[in-house]
Amino acid sequence: MPRTTCTASLDGDALGSGNHKTMAPQIVAGSASRPLAELVAAEGGGELAPSSLERFPDGELCPNVGDLRGEDVYVIQSTGPPVSENLTELLLLLDACRRTGARRITAVVPYFGYARQDRRSHAGEAIGARVATEAIAAAGADRLVVIDPHTPNLEAMCPIPVEMLTAVPAIAHALGFLAAPAQVIVAPDLGAIKLAERFAALLGLPIAIVRKVRTSGAVVRAEKLVGEVARRNTFIVDDMISTGATIEATAGLLLENHAEPHPVVATVHGLFVGQAMERLDRLQPAALLTTDTVVHAPGSALHLCSVARLLADAIDRLHREVSLDELGPFA
Ligand code: R5P
Repeated sequence: MPRTTCTASLDGDALGSGNHKTMAPQIVAGSASRPLAELVAAEGGGELAPSSLERFPDGELCPNVGDLRGEDVYVIQSTGPPVSENLTELLLLLDACRRTGARRITAVVPYFGYARQDRRSHAGEAIGARVATEAIAAAGADRLVVIDPHTPNLEAMCPIPVEMLTAVPAIAHALGFLAAPAQVIVAPDLGAIKLAERFAALLGLPIAIVRKVRTSGAVVRAEKLVGEVARRNTFIVDDMISTGATIEATAGLLLENHAEPHPVVATVHGLFVGQAMERLDRLQPAALLTTDTVVHAPGSALHLCSVARLLADAIDRLHREVSLDELGPFA
């Protein structure tokens, strides 16, 4: 089948059967995470191995990797939008690494799409998180590394060992440099309580909790607030922002309860789909913080806290067979 497009960083030598063998971890960048993978390599997480992605005329993806025989390989690819396409590319990359003879393969999926599908809300639904973890294992990964997954149940669903990292210390650290006031941490739904507790432990602030009801993919209602927010500056935290509906509804409920306007908003995974940024702009947040687990448009008014150092440390430790506990585990 003829190939129409090619984004290659792979040359003939790299593709050949040369004897390039190294003791350093080999980082393979998926197209959804190339800037992050380059930063991870720059932070000392390993050597960036050559890889490329071709696309057939019918849309099929065809990733290529170099000779990784005998290597300890880390494939970095978030599965943010387009979620299914990025997941497919990850699976193909893992298979390519296995077939070229990698000794050990770790799938590093900073943002893990499909994690919200961790149970069936209605009969007839699938459990997407389980399907995705099983596919990653079947494609050739020996281990999975994720950052602040939507559900800790990911580990129980996954047939291979899972290392769960958290970006909360990096975000809390960045918050310290902003003149953004925060007096109470707000969990915008029950699922965000653990995340709020992680921030509370670092920042020494109280927590308020919102009861959210989702009526469709992009429509939510913030129904009830537990905790004291009147005349306080709020800090809303969520593992991910997709359409922005959750944050918008939460901010409205906080105002009804006499919180100060202009909340600080932080999320680990800023997907910002559709009109999300416009929605968030309307709230006039004192600050909007997120990480680079997914790529953001240059120039967007976000405070970006990179997870590159965290991933570089994690890869270095995994390569040396050292515990990740000191990185501030997700618990
Ligand atoms: C859901 O439980 C997640 O933690 C987020 O609250 C949700 O996915 C955010 O989505 P959106 O921005 O579309 O409300």
